[in-house]
Amino acid sequence: MATDTIYKASTTAPVNIAVVKYWGKRDPKLNLPTNSSLSVTLSQADLRTLTTATCSPTYQGEDSLILNGEPSDITGARTQACLRELRARRAALEAENPSLPKLSTMPLRIVSENNFPTAAGLASSAAGFAALVRAIANLYELPSSPTELSLIARQGSGSACRSLFGGYVAWRGGEQADGLDSKAVEVAPASHWPDMRALILVVSAAKKGVSSTSGMQQTVATSDLFQGRIATVVPAHMDKMEAAVRDRDFTAFAEVTMKDSNSFHACCMDTYPPIYYMNDVSRAAVRAVEAINAAAGKTVAAYTFDAGPNAVVYYLEENSGPVVGTFYSLLQGTNGWKDSAKSYDSAAVKLDEAT
Ligand code: ADP
Ligand code: DP6
Ligand code: CO
Repeated sequence: MATDTIYKASTTAPVNIAVVKYWGKRDPKLNLPTNSSLSVTLSQADLRTLTTATCSPTYQGEDSLILNGEPSDITGARTQACLRELRARRAALEAENPSLPKLSTMPLRIVSENNFPTAAGLASSAAGFAALVRAIANLYELPSSPTELSLIARQGSGSACRSLFGGYVAWRGGEQADGLDSKAVEVAPASHWPDMRALILVVSAAKKGVSSTSGMQQTVATSDLFQGRIATVVPAHMDKMEAAVRDRDFTAFAEVTMKDSNSFHACCMDTYPPIYYMNDVSRAAVRAVEAINAAAGKTVAAYTFDAGPNAVVYYLEENSGPVVGTFYSLLQGTNGWKDSAKSYDSAAVKLDEAT
């Protein structure tokens, strides 16, 4: 091995947008959730993280991450947990096979870029940690399955465990204290329901005021409504959503998606002091979806909002005319949308194939 070798691996990871939301930690240290969740992985052709990991015997100092061109702090316990787990697996391989280069002993330099707003409620932490974990696993040539990587990515950001799979993905919250049963599984591949589409409405690309990590811990600590959400609302939504995906029943998919988003944001408002992620433009998007469904005489569109004001609207390709057309004309209209949503942008995206 030349002593100046630079070892390198790059990967991309997609965004996933939950239709039954993860919100709450039962164990903040291991990043274990209070409830199971289910998401849809979006196409990497549209929204993605691109991450390159390198290591070299010539590198000095600590591990580092450049995120969107700026140095980013990776000393936090959650990123450190991911790096520690990946290094331990590489060290085990090196112990088994002494001819392998000792990558586990070298500093890591990671460079990552999101091609969509970071920390704005469009799941940058999901794509970001999925890409980070997979890039390093590739660099270390680990024989890990997506499920094993999902257990590591979960420790970086909960939603990231779902971005290691395409299509319809459940994060089974698990019951074990060690978290070994808290991982993502594919419910159905994207090809199972190939007409599903997502319209992304970027109401604001600004960084959210309350991070997901902090917001959900405030909700767990102070919201009474939240107790009902995890005891009965989410379990019922998980069952109905899995059946809706299995049966390709858009009406049921849409109803659960909208109700679960509403339940999650109600818990945010029931947090003390309250957390407001949705704004006036978000609420106008809710009304627009209702108007689209009323005009169609059936449910053809479903809104959902993560921890931010940006809307994701799920619909089937056959209804792209009324759904995308209505949002397009609203954006062009003079009814106040344009002014209140200066940075409004939209993109209709397909779902991701298996990643
Ligand atoms: P979001 O709604 O975008 O997921 P979060 O508050 O959950 O927002 O997480 C945002 C944080 O995720 C960022 O401040 C950063 O620490 C981390 N993050 C985002 N993108 C990446 C990335 N590409 N690589 C590593 N970490 C990332
Ligand atoms: C509203 O996965 O970002 O998007 O585990 O603290 O990093 P941490 O939180 P994160 O929370 C996502 C919350 C959500 C719902 C969801 O994606 O299920
Ligand atoms: Co996040």
